[in-house]
Amino acid sequence: MKKHPLYIGVMAGLLSLTATLPLQAANQTVAPTTLNQPSRQQEAIESKIQNLLAQMSIQEKIGQLALRDWGTFDASDMKSIKQAVREGRVGGFLNVNFSSVDKNAFEELQRIAVEESPLGVPLLFGQDVIHGYETIFPIPLGQAASWNPELIKNGARVAAQEASADGIRWTFAPMIDISRDPRWGRIAETLGEDPYLTSTLGVAMVEGFQSGNLADPTSLAACGKHFAGYGAAEGGRDYNSAYIPERLLRDIYLPPFKASIDAGMQSIMSTYSTLNDVPGTGSPFLFKQVLREEWGFDGFVVSDWNAVMEMVPHGFARDAKHAATLAANAGIDMEMHTDTYEQFLPQLMDEGQFSEAQLDTAVANILRVKLRLDLWNHPYPRAKSKAERAQIIRNDQFRDTAKAAAKETFVLLKNDNRVLPLKKGQSVAVIGPLADAAHDQLGTWIYNGDKKHSRTLLPALREMVGDTGEILYAAGLDYSRDTRTRGFKAAIKAAKKADVVLFVGGEEAILSGEGHSRGDIRLPGAQAELVAELSKTGKPLAMVLMAGRPLQLDQTLQQADAVMMAWHPGTMGGPALADVLYGETSPSGRLPLSWPVGAGQIPIYYNHLATGRPASEDNYTRIEKIGREVFQHQPGNSSNLLDYGHKPLFPFGYGLTYSEFEYSDLELSDTTLDANGQLTVSATITNTGKTAATETAQLYVRDQVGSVSRPVRELKGFERLTLEPGESRQVNFSLKASQLAFHNTDMEAVIEPGEFRVWIAPNAESGLEAGFTLR
Ligand code: NOJ
Repeated sequence: MKKHPLYIGVMAGLLSLTATLPLQAANQTVAPTTLNQPSRQQEAIESKIQNLLAQMSIQEKIGQLALRDWGTFDASDMKSIKQAVREGRVGGFLNVNFSSVDKNAFEELQRIAVEESPLGVPLLFGQDVIHGYETIFPIPLGQAASWNPELIKNGARVAAQEASADGIRWTFAPMIDISRDPRWGRIAETLGEDPYLTSTLGVAMVEGFQSGNLADPTSLAACGKHFAGYGAAEGGRDYNSAYIPERLLRDIYLPPFKASIDAGMQSIMSTYSTLNDVPGTGSPFLFKQVLREEWGFDGFVVSDWNAVMEMVPHGFARDAKHAATLAANAGIDMEMHTDTYEQFLPQLMDEGQFSEAQLDTAVANILRVKLRLDLWNHPYPRAKSKAERAQIIRNDQFRDTAKAAAKETFVLLKNDNRVLPLKKGQSVAVIGPLADAAHDQLGTWIYNGDKKHSRTLLPALREMVGDTGEILYAAGLDYSRDTRTRGFKAAIKAAKKADVVLFVGGEEAILSGEGHSRGDIRLPGAQAELVAELSKTGKPLAMVLMAGRPLQLDQTLQQADAVMMAWHPGTMGGPALADVLYGETSPSGRLPLSWPVGAGQIPIYYNHLATGRPASEDNYTRIEKIGREVFQHQPGNSSNLLDYGHKPLFPFGYGLTYSEFEYSDLELSDTTLDANGQLTVSATITNTGKTAATETAQLYVRDQVGSVSRPVRELKGFERLTLEPGESRQVNFSLKASQLAFHNTDMEAVIEPGEFRVWIAPNAESGLEAGFTLR
């Protein structure tokens, strides 16, 4: 088959290339990360690095590779911690929770590093600032549902300004693992299932954290994690094996990392898990070949927490010394938490198992980022006093930004009889365990978030309607897993009294996040029972779900007239929800993943292959319709599940608004496309409803025939359009031929001539369709 290789190996044999990235033409040669730094500045940094290396002892060099937390030390022994810093044996600290530990202790450690350590190299303080620091934004999966890069960038900027006030200059975000498994608790921390969306939003997060100028004291160096394949944990069990064929790895799992690195991301974290039987933390393929040789990454690589030592239980390393050898030789520059490098690198160097040149490279990678952050000039917390801190942390503007962000993350899944928006004057029975759950609405990963600053939905609704008594409240259940039905009576009583019932349920924060996977993704506790009871009252029933993952809804979906997914919406979740529920703004979120009918359907994702026997509604029989003892082939043989069907409950990209949109006039600027060319794909979108609302138009393609089977659809672009009632606008997507690239079986990124289908669509299952030929 004729093919157009996209790259010619610049360093012959070294470059096997990744697929097209949304923000960069695929046929650009890969340049080392520069983050807009003028080359003179870069040269100055490189010469400072050489200067420092020339003066450093082996111990100080190894010290730069040490990322410590209190767990590595005896935390009560501050004296020995200070001594380690004084001797240059520590490069940085992680997750020092500034609100619970004496902040001065850290300033003091930095002072010792700067003033008393042999070369005065500042410490780097890192933290999991994942979706906000003290002002908590919606969980990343929720932010992804906004499909709004600007919103994500703004959120990261707020987080960076707050965290840097306390001296943090490095965050362990963005998490850009692709996940196709909502059982996996950490899906809450991802940006969804799609490489294009994750790349685009991951880049936005990097830009927000790093601000385009790392030397700005409000910048945090970003860290893409977890390299690579962590999101494919088998069965959704966290930390479990990932099996990803290299082609799929390069087409689906790696592009977000490449895109973020091209946008200047400064660090990468290794995965704990094995990828194709090799622990990521010991994989020269990932770190030496892909990251350094193919992509030219010049930041640093950090192991995940304890991941070096976990190569022992993985059965990959014999002992700590072997683990250090494997990690160091794989290209892990910095060791998080454990101290195998400190213990064993000198010996490994004596034995010739690791060289000083390798050590220098690792140290240089770390110093480069420290220098780019200009830590020498800004080593201390940005806030110099309590008063200055108070002006920065949780200030009104940041809280407003968090509220504005949350408003765009809600996905309206169903809205029969226009139950939503709520109308003022209606009495509303607010029921459910999450209507007033200040802690749980914050979601996973909140080191510094505190429920005392949360604004929950219940008071926000009361504030919205004023002192009218329109809001009745009976939780019914105390928390999401509550199985006691003693509160049902009061809840039903309130429901009967009200014009409309608003059930607010889902999952507590602790049910998603690291190590918190579920095999059963139904509403926990007695929530489904409570909803069933409420529906029996015959009152219109709207449901708001807060959760770190899509949930199996079963009959609850039929019982509720309206369903809005609110994820875990963060500090300002309550007022944001109240605004959207009362229609001050129309919901505009879109699913960043396919919402399964049930856990047994997982993995289910929109960009799957067709199979030789694609299912459709008329080529198989649902389980309830199959007769007894019928002939083997009678129910039909196609790729489906008899009970769950072949489609997700809601497709990727799906979401309703309070209005309706019509797509028309799909046009292509040409019906053929050259290998170096581009097409414009346009359509007209009209708001045919009665309310202003935001539609997200999505561009999908399908490569009809390839040297490998190609996905039924792939997202290649999207645009959010806010339209007044009756207003029409044209969307114009430019589609470059290079965006049609994929990896062939020789792992070359190629575009192959042939027929393509293209859609402009409101989600991955519908839309206007046309075709073109790639020559
Ligand atoms: C383990 C997690 O996997 C990682 O994402 C996180 O950044 C580190 N711990 C540090 O807390």
